[in-house]
Amino acid sequence: MKFIKQIEPYFDKQELKSVTKTLKSTFITEGNETKKFEKLVSKKIKVKNVIALSNWTLGLYSCAKALGLKSGDEIIVPNLTFVSCVTSMLMAGLKVKLCEVNSLNYSLDLTHAKKLLSKKTKAIMIVHLFGECSDIPRILSFAKKNKLKVIEDAAQSFGGKFKNKYLGTYGDIGGFSFYGNKTITTGEGGVAVCKSKKYADKIKRLKNYGRLTKGSYKHEEIGYNFKFNDLAASIGVSQINKFNVIIKKKKFIDNFYRKNLKNIKQIKFSKKLRYSNPVYWFTSIQVIKKKKLKIFLKKRNIETRDFFYPMHLQKCFVNIKDVISEKSLYKNSLKYYQNGLCLPSSANLNLDQLNYIVKNIKNFYELRN
Ligand SMILES: Cc1ncc(COP(=O)(O)O)c(C=O)c1O
Repeated sequence: MKFIKQIEPYFDKQELKSVTKTLKSTFITEGNETKKFEKLVSKKIKVKNVIALSNWTLGLYSCAKALGLKSGDEIIVPNLTFVSCVTSMLMAGLKVKLCEVNSLNYSLDLTHAKKLLSKKTKAIMIVHLFGECSDIPRILSFAKKNKLKVIEDAAQSFGGKFKNKYLGTYGDIGGFSFYGNKTITTGEGGVAVCKSKKYADKIKRLKNYGRLTKGSYKHEEIGYNFKFNDLAASIGVSQINKFNVIIKKKKFIDNFYRKNLKNIKQIKFSKKLRYSNPVYWFTSIQVIKKKKLKIFLKKRNIETRDFFYPMHLQKCFVNIKDVISEKSLYKNSLKYYQNGLCLPSSANLNLDQLNYIVKNIKNFYELRN
C-alpha cells in the first residue's frame, strides 16, 4: 500500500481553476474574491458577521481585543489544546488559567473551571477539539452565571453542529482556522464570526491598520495587518462549494473506524455529546500500547499523529507568570496525551485504504499483543 498520510487537503481541478483565474486577474491581495469567500461562509453557517483573516491565531487575538478584554484580565482556557489558544491570549495581554478537560470528549471540566474563578476572570474559551463538540449548554450557562464572555474556538470543527446550529456560532465571538490540514482549507487563513456588528467592526479595524475602508490614510484606531488575500480566498471559494461532499466523507470515515474497531477492547473512542452532530477533523482514539501501535502502523505506511502536548507541561510557559497552572492536576490531559492517537482522516481516503488501516490495527491487537 502506498504511504497513507494522516491528513491532506481535498482538492480537485476546481481549486486550480479558481486560483489561475485570480492570478490572471492580477489582483491577488484582499478584494472581491475574499468578499465572495466571506459571503459563502456566512451563508453556509448562517451568521451575518464574518471576517476573513490571515490566520486564526491572530483571529483569537482579535476576538479578545474585540470583546474589550483588558491587560491583566483572566481567561479560562482548556489545558489540552493547540498552543496558540494560549499564546494569542498572552499577546492580547491576558492572563491564562489552564483548565482540565473531561474524560469523554475533551470539554472543559467545569468543576475545575469553578475553582479557577477570581474577580479578574472575564472570559472563557471553548475549544471543540478534533472536531468533537464541547459541552456547549453547560459551558454557556457557567459563563452566564459568572458573567464571562465566551470565545468559541472552532478551528478544528468547521461544519459540525449542535442542535442544528453550527459550532463556532455559539460564543459571543468565535471562528475557524483554514490552515492546510483543516477540513476546509485556504493554505493559511482564518475566519472570525461575531454576533454583534460592533465586534465585527473592531476586528475589521484591527486587521486593516485601524480603518474600515481601504485606500484611506485616516486611521481611527491602532490597527495592524491581518488581512486575507484573494489567492487564498479563491481556494476557499472552491472548498466551500465542495462543503457537503467533504463533510459527508469526513463523517463516513469516522463512522467507518467506529464501526470496524468497536470490538477491540484496547481502543476507546470519544463519546459524542447529546444533540451534537460533529464533523471529526481527526478521528481520535485512546489506545493501549500507543507507541508500539504507532511504530507498527508506520512500518506499514500508515501515518498517525499524537495528541496535543498539554499546556501545563509546555516549556515555553514554564517561567511565564501569566500562564497559571496547577502542576499536580491535569490527569485527564496527561492521559489523553499519553494514550491518544489520531488516525488517518483525510476526506481523500478510499475504501481500500480504510480497510487496510483497520485490518492492520486489528492485526496489531489480535495477533501480536
Ligand atoms: C484549536 C486551535 N486553535 C487555534 C489554531 C490556530 O489556527 P491557525 O493555524 O490558523 O493560526 C489552531 C490551529 O491548528 C487550532 O487547532
